[in-house]
Amino acid sequence: MKKHVLMISLSALLAACGAEKQAEAPKTEQQAAAPAEQAMQQASAEQGAVPAVDKAALAEEAKAAVQALGGTLKGELETAMKAGGPVEALDVCHTRAPEIAKAVSADKGMQVSRVSLKNRNPVMGAPNEWQTQVLNEFETRKAAGEDPAALAYAEVAGNEFRFMKAIPTGAVCLKCHGTEISPEVSAKLTELYPDDKATGFKEGDLRGAFVVVKNLAP
Ligand code: HEC
Repeated sequence: MKKHVLMISLSALLAACGAEKQAEAPKTEQQAAAPAEQAMQQASAEQGAVPAVDKAALAEEAKAAVQALGGTLKGELETAMKAGGPVEALDVCHTRAPEIAKAVSADKGMQVSRVSLKNRNPVMGAPNEWQTQVLNEFETRKAAGEDPAALAYAEVAGNEFRFMKAIPTGAVCLKCHGTEISPEVSAKLTELYPDDKATGFKEGDLRGAFVVVKNLAP
């Protein structure tokens, strides 16, 4: 801090002396900063806390994986709804959602899934500890006025790249996740998911989130 003040007064002095010397001032500053930066890089490398990864590039990859999963699910859901209504579509969701997630994960080389604080699938839909934390964070950010469709999270933790993207509830989702579910759909849900927590949602609520995990270990 003190050094910084000193440097500013020094460059003010140099400026007063004329343009020639003023041009030298930034160079001195750069030289002073370089060893400090190197020391910091060395320190973080020693701690092993920050692996050299391109987080922005990984986030782009993760977004593409989310789009692949979300797009395929949406397409199959719409087709099934048109062909046979919500009860048949429910069967498609039940069998196809885990299969599609598996196929997209294999294709993208990243583990892609969906989780929720109020999950329907008792195994795949249940968030672990850090995922629960991010889902709660999304709720807080939404309550503070952020656009639910834009809520995302990316982090490198140890050897893992972690990405999440919020899933808002749309009107079409209410037939199977809303407050007024038809008796036929209700009966089928009870049969397939006796511990279903994924009803009672309103349009605009956060239904859950996509999760992408990539193992960075060499
Ligand atoms: C036809 C019924 C149906 C509709 C419509 C539907 N879902 Fe689902 N949803 C399901 C079923 C069934 C599952 C459980 C799938 C499984 O076993 O993996 C599910 C699971 C999910 C999950 C995974 C987490 C969990 O709770 O297990 C999310 C997230 C989700 N749905 C979001 C949505 C969104 C968003 C919409 C609207 C765009 C939607 N769903 C529309 C039936 C439906």
